[in-house]
Amino acid sequence: MQVIKQYIEENKQRLLDELFELLRFPSVSADPKYAPDVLNAADYVAKKLTDAGADKVEVCQTAGYPIVYGEKIIDASLPTVLVYGHYDVQPADPLELWKTPPFEPTIREGKIYARGACDDKGQFYMHIKAFELMMQTDGLPCNIKFMIEGEEEVGSNNLSIFVKANKERLKADVVLISDTSMISMEHPSLETGLRGLSYLEVEVTGPNRDLHSGVYGGAVANPATILAKMIASLHDEDNHITIPGFYDDVTELTQAEKDTLNSAPYDEAEYKQDLDVEELWGEKGYSTFERTGTRPTLEVNGIWGGYIGEGAKTVLPSKAHAKISMRLVPNQTSAQITKLFTDHLLKIAPKYVKVQVTPHHGGEPVVTPTDSIAYQAAQKAIAESFGKQPIPTRGGGSIPIVALFEAELGLKTVLMGFGLDSDALHSPNEKYDIFNYYKGIETIPLFHKYFAELSK
Ligand code: BES
Ligand code: MN
Ligand code: MN
Repeated sequence: MQVIKQYIEENKQRLLDELFELLRFPSVSADPKYAPDVLNAADYVAKKLTDAGADKVEVCQTAGYPIVYGEKIIDASLPTVLVYGHYDVQPADPLELWKTPPFEPTIREGKIYARGACDDKGQFYMHIKAFELMMQTDGLPCNIKFMIEGEEEVGSNNLSIFVKANKERLKADVVLISDTSMISMEHPSLETGLRGLSYLEVEVTGPNRDLHSGVYGGAVANPATILAKMIASLHDEDNHITIPGFYDDVTELTQAEKDTLNSAPYDEAEYKQDLDVEELWGEKGYSTFERTGTRPTLEVNGIWGGYIGEGAKTVLPSKAHAKISMRLVPNQTSAQITKLFTDHLLKIAPKYVKVQVTPHHGGEPVVTPTDSIAYQAAQKAIAESFGKQPIPTRGGGSIPIVALFEAELGLKTVLMGFGLDSDALHSPNEKYDIFNYYKGIETIPLFHKYFAELSK
């Protein structure tokens, strides 16, 4: 532990400078205009892996953005940890809400502000630096493989192809990912599950062209009104989702599981204050932790139609649109929920309009084991570096590839994230605390150490 702390102390500024360099690439995977930057970010990651001491580093081409691979096999008889992360980021919009530019990392009050600071550049880069540290201090106790992709934020479609085609190369004993949140630095925690996802787009068409809202208004249904009504009907008065069959495969937690989940520290007043809402909203009969971690939900991610420019235009639009996503929990499958949603929407569509539903990406939910050697290693590592036992929590976000690692490689995952929900992932002014960055670099070598020890 002393060796680790000393290495971080001696290299403090460089460890930060390198992350800043990575954050300066606007590697937005969703927007083709950033393609060269995404590719440059991949090359940078490959170079840094090589510099840190990895062998067989390769920028593996795919039909989309490349996957950066590297490994260090010190002894085939030792266990192998496969580290996963993503170098792509979400779009930075709306730009005008950023206090400092999203791709010019800036420190304020000990926090690094930049798109990707937490999700996931700041977090996966800790693994490369922790690896460097272990190499430099003769402390690598097991084999390690890195797979850092560039399409996580757009559904990881090419990664699934890569995984299926590279089963031998990716052989490992466990997957280790830092791309999730902790409760707080005072209350370190480990996420033990992720929700799945079904994402769809709905188009409602009324009349065959935009109409003068005075000439035709009153005689023809407005597709925006119809869409709003359809969407509003998807939750009942208790905020349960009304799609028939939606909850059929959902299992209730046991009382003991609920108790564990709800024993985590939570201050509702603070939660509301942080978001500036007077009341929380959610499915009746469930706590906030249960609602975000263990219950399926349905959200409108975007809704538009008609005139949304400056000033006023009296129009009865021909079309209205919405992007809708559902978070899924164990036993629900993305394909099944996508079908139920589509069937239901077509069924409730009134004759005044035509409705078209187009699926986007999806992903399956996962629950990670808490009785495995790897989970125990993460617990011990965090307990040592934070001086506190981590609390198990369920994450509300999705990393669809985790279910795929299990299905294709037979590997379980440990989600050892160091972000905070308040780090504004996907939002303007995303941040990552410098403290968390160094804490991660300190904790990761301990994970490897305990994983190797407990595997003996
Ligand atoms: N790192 C997040 C997921 C996450 C965040 C999990 C916080 C738990 C806590 C990941 O990059 C992400 O944003 N995933 C997307 C899904 C993806 C298919 C676009 C998500 O959850 O919306
Ligand atoms: Mn992420
Ligand atoms: Mn993300």
